[in-house]
Amino acid sequence: MKSSFNVVFFATSVLLLAFCASPSASAPAQSTTVASPSPLTCGDPTDAIPLYIADSPGQTVYYTTSTTDLNILVKLPYDYNFLGIAAHVFPTQELSTVPFFHVQNDGTIDNFYTTSATARDLALESGYVNASNTIAGYIYPSQICGSVPFYGLYSTAATEHFYTINATDYNAKLASGMWTDEGIAGYVLDLDPCAD
Ligand SMILES: *[C@@H]1O[C@H](CO)[C@@H](O)[C@H](O)[C@H]1NC(C)=O
Ligand SMILES: *[C@@H]1O[C@H](CO)[C@@H](O)[C@H](O)[C@H]1NC(C)=O
Repeated sequence: MKSSFNVVFFATSVLLLAFCASPSASAPAQSTTVASPSPLTCGDPTDAIPLYIADSPGQTVYYTTSTTDLNILVKLPYDYNFLGIAAHVFPTQELSTVPFFHVQNDGTIDNFYTTSATARDLALESGYVNASNTIAGYIYPSQICGSVPFYGLYSTAATEHFYTINATDYNAKLASGMWTDEGIAGYVLDLDPCAD
């Protein structure tokens, strides 16, 4: 497992290097952040970890904080592409955060993420099952503590949910007519991967 673990981190480094080396070519989407009401009501941002995104073209996207899961996904028979870091989330529940539930549909091949237990239960009644980790991470239910919107989209044709903090990407997908707006799934952290 150790060598495969390193493979992903190697890929992450390459990706971040490319991202950090050309800031002008990939300027982050501007998001309006709202000042935290009080640090005491916020999670500790230094506890936040990457929520990775991988995709299987023509099938679905998968978000996980687990490098173990990621290493399984990028190999056969799954053969997903590692795309990078979609957001930063908390691995355990911190002040003012809520669970970001993860359910999956193995028939239509879709991964659905939501902070709503009601929406999760409706999905569970309609063919979805809890993903192995059940909860993908913990995020804010409103835009507090320097968090940014995690926009949700759904493609009926592809039966695919997609989440992004990139407003440009979100608007482009909406404009394409291929995706419907699922609204803001929750609020995540957009930590600067180049800051050390
Ligand atoms: C945001 O999405 C757009 C459109 O897909 C892309 O061109 C841009 O590089 C993305 N920005 C970041 C910071 O990833
Ligand atoms: C799915 O996970 C939720 C907790 O996130 C739990 O309440 C529910 O019982 C689980 N359902 C199944 C079928 O395991």
